[in-house]
Parts: sequence; C-alpha cells; structure tokens
Amino acid sequence: MKAHSRTFTLRKLPLFLVPVLALAQVPHRPATHKSASRSSKPAAHARAAAGAQSLTSPAVTRRVNELMSKLTFSQKVQLLSGYESMFTHPIPAQDLPAIKMSDASVGVRVWGPSTAYPASVALAATWDPALAYRAGRSVGRDARARGVNIVLGPGMDLTREPQCGRNFEYLGEDPTLAGRMAVAWVRGIQSQGVAACSKHYAGNEQETNRMTVNTIIGKRALEELYLAPFRDVIEEGHSMTIMPAYNKLNGLYCTASPYLLDTMLRQHWGFEGVAMSDWGAVHDTLGPLNAGLDLEMPGDRYFNRKAIDPLLSSGDLTVDTIDQHVRRLLRVMVAMGWLDRPQKIASIPLNDPTSAATALQEEREAIVLLKNKNGVLPLNRSRLHTIVVVGPNATPAITGGGGSSFTTPIVKPVSMLQAIRRAAGAGVKVIDLPYPLSLTPPHMWPPSPNQAPATLPPFTSQQTAEIRNADAVIACVGPRESEGVDRPFNMPGQQNQYLHEVGSLNPRTIVVVNAGSNVGMSPWIHQVSGLLYAWYPGENGNTAVADALFGRLNPSGKLPDSFEKHWKDAAAYGNYPGKNDTVNFKEGIYMGYRWFDSKHIAPRFPFGFGLSYTTFAIRHMSVADHGQGAGRVIDVNADVTNTGKRAGAEVVQLYVRPLNSSVERTFQQLRDFARVQLAPGQTRRVHLRLPWQAFAYYNTGHSDWEVPAGSYTLALGSSSRDIAATKNVSWTSTLKQPEFRPQFAEHATVTPPPSALLRSALHGAWRITQTTVGNQTSSTCNFDLDGNNLSGSCTGPTGQKQSIKGTASGDTATWVAHVHFGRRDLLLLYKAQAQSANSMKGTLQIPAYDVKGTFTGSRQ
Ligand code: BGC
Repeated sequence: MKAHSRTFTLRKLPLFLVPVLALAQVPHRPATHKSASRSSKPAAHARAAAGAQSLTSPAVTRRVNELMSKLTFSQKVQLLSGYESMFTHPIPAQDLPAIKMSDASVGVRVWGPSTAYPASVALAATWDPALAYRAGRSVGRDARARGVNIVLGPGMDLTREPQCGRNFEYLGEDPTLAGRMAVAWVRGIQSQGVAACSKHYAGNEQETNRMTVNTIIGKRALEELYLAPFRDVIEEGHSMTIMPAYNKLNGLYCTASPYLLDTMLRQHWGFEGVAMSDWGAVHDTLGPLNAGLDLEMPGDRYFNRKAIDPLLSSGDLTVDTIDQHVRRLLRVMVAMGWLDRPQKIASIPLNDPTSAATALQEEREAIVLLKNKNGVLPLNRSRLHTIVVVGPNATPAITGGGGSSFTTPIVKPVSMLQAIRRAAGAGVKVIDLPYPLSLTPPHMWPPSPNQAPATLPPFTSQQTAEIRNADAVIACVGPRESEGVDRPFNMPGQQNQYLHEVGSLNPRTIVVVNAGSNVGMSPWIHQVSGLLYAWYPGENGNTAVADALFGRLNPSGKLPDSFEKHWKDAAAYGNYPGKNDTVNFKEGIYMGYRWFDSKHIAPRFPFGFGLSYTTFAIRHMSVADHGQGAGRVIDVNADVTNTGKRAGAEVVQLYVRPLNSSVERTFQQLRDFARVQLAPGQTRRVHLRLPWQAFAYYNTGHSDWEVPAGSYTLALGSSSRDIAATKNVSWTSTLKQPEFRPQFAEHATVTPPPSALLRSALHGAWRITQTTVGNQTSSTCNFDLDGNNLSGSCTGPTGQKQSIKGTASGDTATWVAHVHFGRRDLLLLYKAQAQSANSMKGTLQIPAYDVKGTFTGSRQ
C-alpha cells in the first residue's frame, strides 16, 4: 500500500533523526506468577494440522522471517485488523493477498447462496464423528469453490440453558461429545486447505447482553466443562484460528483476557495460530494486544497506528508484541499454502452434489425420536387415507436458525408439507391447515422470539372434523431462534395451546420440532402420540424427516442435551440470564445431566436418549486394563445386537461414575461412545477406550488434573439413564497430572528470559552506528539489563541525551526512540541481537516515513 509513497518518504526524511534517541519502553506485562518453561505439550498444536505444513516447521519459520524482514511497520499494523468486514488487509507491495472469510457453521454463507447444512446441534445429535469429518470436508470444498480461506466455525459453547438463541449453532451440553464432533469437523475443513475458526471462546452460553455481560465461571467448571471442547479442538483438531467472544469472562473481556489468550490457549494448549476477535468485540488497543489477540475484526477501530504509536512510545506496548501477532498470521498463511496457490478451485461446483448428499445424510442421522406411543410411527401408507398437516413450520421451508450462520440455500429448499406429500404418495390425501397466526420464519432479522401474542381463533367446524377424522395429524412447530437474542422456554405464537387443542381432537398427533434445544412441552406432550426432533434440517433435510415419519428411514439420533420437564428443574434456573449485566454459573460443574443425575431430578428426556423403530441389546461387556499410572488405558468392549426387525443404528455410550469419592464429583460423565449401524439380527463388537483423563477431575487447590484413588463404575448403555451393563475398576493410588501446567492465574504471562549472550552484552557503554537511507551517524549509549527490562541512555550527534528502556527476551532486545521533529512525534523502533559480549547488530524502522535501516554496535 505504501509502495507509491516511497519517493516522497526518502526526500522528506529528516536526516537528524538518524542519531539514536532511545526512549523508554516499559513492558506492560502483568506480573508473572511463575516463571517457567513451556510444558511438554506446546508443539501439539503446531504439529499436525491436516492439509497444511506445521505452523512451526523450519520451512515455515524461514519464509515468515523473510516476510517479516520485508514488511514495514505500517504494513505490519495493517495486518492486525480486518478489511471490508470479511477479509484481512492485502499488502500488494509484499504480494500478500487479502485472506477471505465466511461464516460456515451450517454452510459457507457470506458469498452468495450455498449448500445449507443442518444445524450444528443436529450434527451433534448424530454422535457420528466420521460424519462430522465428512461434513467438515464438504464445507471445506464449498469454501474452496468460493475462494474462502477461513471459515468462522465450529461454534462450541455448551447448551447451559435451552433459551440461548444460538444453541442450534453449538454441539450440545457435554464437553466430550462437543469436543469429539468439533475436532472431526475441523479436521475435515482443514483437510481442504481451509482454516477453521473455533468460536466463541469462552463463556458465551447466552445471547442476552452478549456484548457486555460478565460471565462468572469457577475454574473447575471452566476446565472440566466450558474450556474442554476448545482445548480438544486446539490440541487434537489443530484449529488454525480461534475467535474470542463478545462477553467478559470473570471480569475481563474475552478479547483482552491474558488467562484465555495466553495462559490457557498458548501455554497450556500450545496454540500457535491466530486469535481473531468476534466482530466488534474489541474495546481497547493495549489490553487485547498485550493479552494475545492477534486480529481485530471486522475493521481497525482499535488496532491502528494512531492508537498503537503512543503506546509504543510510552513503553506500554512493545514492538516485539506487534511482531508476534503479525508472525502468527503469516505462519497460518504460509503453512496453509495460501501464498503459493489460488484459494479458489473453479472445478468444484458452487452447487456441489457431494455437499447436498452430505447435508442430507447429516439430517438422516440426526433426527431424534422422543415419543412413539402405541407405535404410531412409522406411518403405514397402505393403511392411511387422510393426513392433516398443521403448524407454522409446515410451510414455507424452515432450513436454519437466524443470524450470521443463516445460509441461503443454493437449491429451492423442500418444506415439510412438500416432503410429506411426496412421501405419502398419491394414495393418501394430505390436508394442509395453515397456522392461524402469523409467525416470521426463525431466520428473520432482527429476531423476534416473542412474536404473535394474539389469541388463537377457534377451529371452524370443518377444521375440527378434518383433524378429528384424520388417520394422523403431523404438527410442525418450533421456537423462533436467532443469534443476538435469547428466546423463551415455551414456543411463541400460542403453539402450546394449539398443540393441546389439536392433540385433544386427535391423539394420533405427531409433533415435529425445529429447535436448537428443549422447549416447554407440558401443555401437550401427554396428548400427542409421537414426537420427532428435527433440529434445523438444512436445505433438503425435510425429506429425511418425512422419510422417518413414513418408515423409509429409521431415526437414530440421540439427544446431545438433557430436556428438562420444567425450566425450574434446570441447573441454571435462578442464575440466568443474570442481573446487572453479570451472569454467575453458580451451578458450577452441575450442568446438564450432571445436575439432573446428581440431584435426582428426572428430566423429561435424558441426555443421550433417542428411540428407534427397532430394538437393540448391549451384551458381553468386557474390560481390559493395560499399563499403569499415566500410561494406563482401559479398553471396554461389548456386543451390540439389533434384536428387532428393521435396520438401524445404536449409539453405545460409556459413562464413568466415581464411587464413594473422597472429592466432590458429579454422578457420571460421558467419556466415550460409538455409533453402530446394524441389519436386523446383526451383532457387532464395539471398542471403547478410557485413558487416565477419563477418571480425572480438576483440583483447584493444586491447579491440576488428578485421578483420586478409589473405585469407579464403567456404565455402558444406550442413554445416560438406560444402562445395559457395568463393570468396576479402581485406582489404587492417586494420580496427578504428569505434565507441567502453569498456575491458574487470571493474569499470568510468561516472558522467556534473555539468552546468556544477550545478558553478557547488554550492560556498559556502547557506540551505535546506524545507516538509514544511505546516511550514517553514531551515538553513544549505556545499557543496563534487569531481568527482561532494558534501561540506559543514549547521546546522539546533536548532544541531546535520552534515557532508554526496553525489553530483552530470548536472543532479541527491542527498544523505541521517541523523537520530536517540528510538530511531529516520531517513533524509531530498534531490534538488536548480540554477536558477542562486545558487538551487536540490528534493524531500525521509522514508521512515519515507512523506511528501515540497520545498525551495528561495538563496546566502548
Ligand atoms: C458472530 C460470529 C460471526 C461474526 C461474523 C458475529 O456477530 O457472533 O459468530 O462469525 O459475527 O459474521
């Protein structure tokens, strides 16, 4: 961008600036609780992103070094912020392209119509990580077809309460399930040369006041629940980017939290990629940059030269910090290959049949059958004459929830009414009773979850007769859910009363719900015979729902959440949505089924539950114990048999239950699962595996994971409350986490100490000779090093004496000179490396003039 201004720059450069006039550079690093080297883990993230080079490979580092040496300071600062909402800044002078982004939780939505996939919660309901990988791969291909580099997903906040308007974009209430599905999705995306952006990190479990709310979560619940899927997606999924959320976590905005961005993300999990803010989630320049936020999106409100320069000159911010942020972005760009090939692959069709097939398969596996009284389902076409279809979601097609994920389908979506007509065939009369109140579709913006308070008109006598005489009534209903706002527990628009009336006219009523989580069902659940959760089905998923109704498909999804009977039963009741802009997760680790099970409250439908048109048996559970201590692995095997008459899939779930634990534990935790497809009569053996972490809890006293000595029941079943077999194992002695993990501390950051060579050099008197745009001048400096802090003074050719302060860490020292030139305040940025105790060399930059220079130093 500055290429054209270079001539101007050279002519105008004030030559007197060449002397060294170093100014203070006090690192605004919060107190370090514990100076420590990294854990044995850090390379984990950098190591193995599928479809990309390692972020820290020597080849990537060399290329990044080259780019860094060419970039001017202004260009570096430009790289720290977004451009035109969905890009990073292009730097044409250095051949750096703009990095193109798109939301993609349920389809690549930003760049025109695209395959609209089912909601993420539907993917979670499949409990099928192999399918999640394929779904990610399809979205990755859709992204390549549109030249998109980064997709803004997956969403991994947990379903703490059903009201959260974005639950449909997330992966349920359990961290093991959410983490497993997210890891697979991210690997699929990144296998296509597209980076995933895991979001919203962290504590964004509600949309009410999401821009400002202070979420208070204790450290045990953070480690065991809310951060766990993010840890998995970084350590195992190698997500290249992550999105700090809008809200505050424990008092600090997520975008300015050293705990989130440095302690957990980089020190614990070894993240080497880019942390980019949610859109408009930055509120300051200094805090976020020092905490570890690399990229402000969507624009440069805070990450710009005007805001950054004074912070450099006051020493609150260091050049090194800016460089680290830029390096991270460059590393991702280089490692992903974005600098070496076009991102767009024109041969991938925009309307890719592979994507459509994947979207359909997701919905086919996601549908959860919750109630099937007297075998009302599947509907038997040969015995049906008339079906009545009612409810606001029958037509037009509902494909997704509202907000930034909403993807305009690339094909004309199929409505439930159309899908039912097709599946019913010509021999069945399908009567459509339009919903009497007007409800906007869920994806309307701004969202209106509370709409249509009007009273329901009574059915006409003809309608009453049609409902009463029908062989079956299919009621298509759901809340109005969208980003930016939460919705009530009960569905809006009098749907409860409507279902109550329809159900009392005809008990052969089957309810199909589109939602991201539970809804109030008390007024009607006992009056209807069937209940199917369809989530949001994407562009073609209603055909799968109709297939499930008519038995062409055997529903096999399982709930990724617990469904409470009443809102007052839930763990978050009384502590949601908070008061005075603060929400306190007082239930701690007792969230979802952990709450219902431990407090002996019966949910309406338990976590992991889902019926089928066939039956299964889980038998012959066996346990094989290998290794010891942290090397111990327990293999759990069992036979699963389809004991019914139809093909179907069962999800075998393995829960660990601490027995008489000496420390507070929840009743059970899901630790592994497997989905198996079985023909009638078929048996398959499933293999599940428990490492030591499956037994561990987070000990807040020691800030460490620990397996308390004692007995544990391994419970194997088809839901959290339908256990087929159990075995006990024990840990004879307590196991503490064998790896180093830094102290839990809100503000801990660790700056590596200066190298021995740098320490031997940075003291005493020096002569610094520098060359900038062909001019050479010298000055005399005195350096003094204390820990990471560099101080001293310099006297330039004009005789003016300036004190200097800076930072030294590893092999590099940096300091800033602040010079007044006429009415301008100019910065000179220095970066030095020692050759020996008596010589150093380095570079300097004068950002205002966009020029660079070099210098050498020799001991006096
Ligand atoms: C949402 C993010 C989304 C971003 C860009 C924000 O409002 O919270 O999830 O990726 O917008 O569309």
